Formats: sequence, C-alpha cells, structure tokens
Amino acid sequence: MSAENLVTRADLAETVHESTHEGGGDRGPGHVTEDGRKIGGVVMEMKNITLRFGGVTAIKDISFDIREGEIRAIIGPNGAGKSSMLNVISGFYVPQEGEVWFRGAKRPPMKPYQVARQGIARTFQNIALFDGMSVLDNVMTGRLTQMQQGILAQALWKGPAEREEVENREKAEKIIDFLEIQHIRKTPVSRLPYGLKKRVELARALVSEPTILLLDEPMAGMNVEEKEDMCRFVLDVNDEFGTTIALIEHDMGVVMDLSDRVVVMDYGRKIGDGTPDDVRNNQEVIDAYLGVSHD
Ligand SMILES: Nc1ncnc2c1ncn2[C@@H]1O[C@H](COP(=O)(O)OP(=O)(O)OP(=O)(O)O)[C@@H](O)[C@H]1O
Ligand SMILES: [Mg+2]
Repeated sequence: MSAENLVTRADLAETVHESTHEGGGDRGPGHVTEDGRKIGGVVMEMKNITLRFGGVTAIKDISFDIREGEIRAIIGPNGAGKSSMLNVISGFYVPQEGEVWFRGAKRPPMKPYQVARQGIARTFQNIALFDGMSVLDNVMTGRLTQMQQGILAQALWKGPAEREEVENREKAEKIIDFLEIQHIRKTPVSRLPYGLKKRVELARALVSEPTILLLDEPMAGMNVEEKEDMCRFVLDVNDEFGTTIALIEHDMGVVMDLSDRVVVMDYGRKIGDGTPDDVRNNQEVIDAYLGVSHD
C-alpha cells in the first residue's frame, strides 16, 4: 500500500458514517490505522438480517459489515441479540430474512462445519471444552475441520495420515506457545481456573488458522489481570496473524481500547454503528446501554 493511500482513524470514521447511511455495500479501499495495522475492504456483510425464535424476534432487520483485519465489537444489553448474530455468522442459525455476503458473494445457507472450512472460527459464551481431556488434546480438536485424511487412514496410521497428525501437533504446539499455556499442556481442562479455560478455548479456535475469529464475551467473568492478558492476546492475534476479529463484550473499557468499529444492538435492533468515539457520543446508545452498568 502506497503512502498516499494512508488514511487516519478520523477518515475511517467519515467512511463508516457514509457507508452506514448508504447501507454499506462497497468493498471499499483498504487503509492503515494510526497504530499501523492494515485494514482491508469489506470481507463480510450482513444485509437486512431478521431472525425469529417462534414469537421472539432476536434480530430485526440488521445490516452491518466487517472489514478485513479489523476488530469489530458487538455490544448491547442482555438479550439484545448479540450471540444470535454471531450464531448467524457462524452458520449455527439461518435467518428467516436477509443475506450474508462473504468475500463479495452471497453465502448460501451453510452448516457450521462448512462455515468453519471457509476459515471462520469461534469461541462460545459458555465454555465448551472437553473437560476430561488435556489442554493439548482440546486444542488438537480445533484441527478437525482442516483434516483431509479419513477415519480409516487415521486408524491405519500410515503415510499421509501420519504426516497430517504430525503437522496438526506442530500447529497446536505453536499456538500453545503463542498463548503462553505450555506449562498446562498436559493438564486436564477440568482442573483449570476459569480464565485459563477461556484461553484454551481461544487456542482451539486459533489452531484452525482462521481468517475470521468470532469471540462471544471472551473476557466475561475474568478478574482484572486475566482480562488484561486476554486483551493483549486478542491484539496480538490481530496484529501477528492479521486475523479479522468480531467480538461481543460488555466491558466498555475493553471495547474502547480494542475495537476499530462498534455495532450497538438493543432489543434485536441496531441503534449505533461507528468508531468507539461515535458510539460513545450517540444519545440513543447512551440511553439504552452506556448510561447503566452491566455485569
Ligand atoms: N435458541 C433460542 N431459542 C429461543 N429463543 C432464543 C434462542 N436464542 C436466543 N433466544 C432469544 O433471543 C433473544 C436474544 O438472545 P441472545 O442470546 O442473542 O442475546 P445476547 O445479546 O447475546 O444476550 P446476553 O448479553 O445475555 O448474552 C433473547 O430474547 C433470547 O431469549
Ligand atoms: Mg450472548
């Protein structure tokens, strides 16, 4: 990217503002943030998504986009529809209305494993690890979506299957080093404190080498020190691997520090979309969410 293409965070705010009003749509030019990170064009776009569970409308006609390389936060009160939105992106729920666009093409309804194969990984609001298994084995399960060799080849333990197993193990060890959990790699997950379990879940998502990472409240329930660590790892993942990150988070300090842009949801509607400063100064957002405390 040449120097004249460099755009500041303030310029981005302008672009975001315009594209929000036009409903997004253009994949747009890339830019570099003030702290030197590269943000590309639109990689994922939600267009007029509506999701209902029986009589409950969890998401009402919401549109927003995610740019390559950015950290995009989704915030809002309990029950606003944030996890439901992440579940639409990950293919867990198929919305009744609206379209999901990925890399410039409309995505047909897909199963979660098909979405995972497209390079989209996630963590869950409630930890979903195999409790009796070691940290290393849990992390290894994150490679399952990438595996090429069938069960029979794995069982016979020969040739390509053996090579694949070795490669998977190397990738798992690399991520374990990156997240600084070498010392617990043989420990059963059930024996770990909460903060470390969350980190193991992040490791399992990362080992599939995703281009987009979806994090549902990665810091919920953590103490201050654990939160600081997790913030640092989220930033490092984004910086070192160039991973695009969409995260749900209630701690506004964390959201303001980490994210490039923020979507605000309330009762299934979108009530704000822009830079952290934009949403902090948005009266509707202040009334619905920022004015009250959230645990
Ligand atoms: N599987 C489901 N079946 C029925 N209703 C659901 C289901 N999942 C979510 N809902 C409802 O949809 C609405 C949005 O829920 P969702 O979990 O997406 O909110 P959230 O913003 O993630 O909230 P929280 O901050 O508490 O995690 C809520 O009214 C919830 O009860
Ligand atoms: Mg939720």
